Amino acid sequence: MISVAPVKLDFVAEIGNIDLTKAISETQFSEIEAAFEKYAVLIFHDQPLSEDQQNSFANKFGPLGRPAAPFRPENTERLKRPESADISNVDERGDVLPEGDVRLLINRANALWHTDSTFKRVPAKMSMLCAQSVVPTGGETEFADMRAAWDALPEDRQKALDGLVAEHDYFHSRMKVGLDPRSVSPERRAMLPPVPQILVRTHPVTGRKSLYLASHIKRIYGMADAEAQKLVDQLMAHSTQPQFTYAHQWAVGDVVLWDNRCTMHRGRPHDPKLPRVMRRATAMDIGPSVQEGWKPAA
Ligand SMILES: [Fe+2]
Repeated sequence: MISVAPVKLDFVAEIGNIDLTKAISETQFSEIEAAFEKYAVLIFHDQPLSEDQQNSFANKFGPLGRPAAPFRPENTERLKRPESADISNVDERGDVLPEGDVRLLINRANALWHTDSTFKRVPAKMSMLCAQSVVPTGGETEFADMRAAWDALPEDRQKALDGLVAEHDYFHSRMKVGLDPRSVSPERRAMLPPVPQILVRTHPVTGRKSLYLASHIKRIYGMADAEAQKLVDQLMAHSTQPQFTYAHQWAVGDVVLWDNRCTMHRGRPHDPKLPRVMRRATAMDIGPSVQEGWKPAA
């Protein structure tokens, strides 16, 4: 049986007594899945997974998504599978990318609070990071418990939010970190059109409600832009208070996975001259968060 040691309330737990480099039995996976449903963030130590091992473990949670990488120059992939996301600041030779390299845009946007792939119609269910090179200070991944953040809102506020739909746009968060909109060709823009996502989600297994926020939110349907931005900023500030957050300090071999349906996360800053290399695998959700056929009111 796996061991489950709570790290923070019912939000984060450390999982032990399992070797993820070996085949995982159905029983072991159902124990992990039960922990994943109860805690939104799971930490495994000393698990030096290969790319294939990581993808096959992630695939147990759902179909693997492919990273959106419209700014990656051609032939610079370091990883062999198109489903693997390169969350690093190094090039294909392992050298630290120079300041100004367009690939660092990804890291800069990751430093904003977000939820993975909400800019896709069918967003991410579970993301899993494997740490391959870590920095001695900084570079933590910080998580926010969006269920606890929801629970802490007054009832009238919950009522006002429930049912709202936001527009998420990949390029919106990139522009916040310095992407020049004039540098985006219509072809690249068309690769990732803005998509609607509900603002309050209900977890399909636990029934718990949570705020569904990300720095990708560009507007809220039926609301003036300034009002929507103010609301999103307020909810972001509310959800990321210390009582709702946990910062993971990485060690090489750590595997951390989280439920994107009820958490936000961000990467913390570190010395940009030092390599920090993470590999991500992502299992996608089973459908859009908005109801099939949803259209904004005319
Ligand atoms: Fe992320």
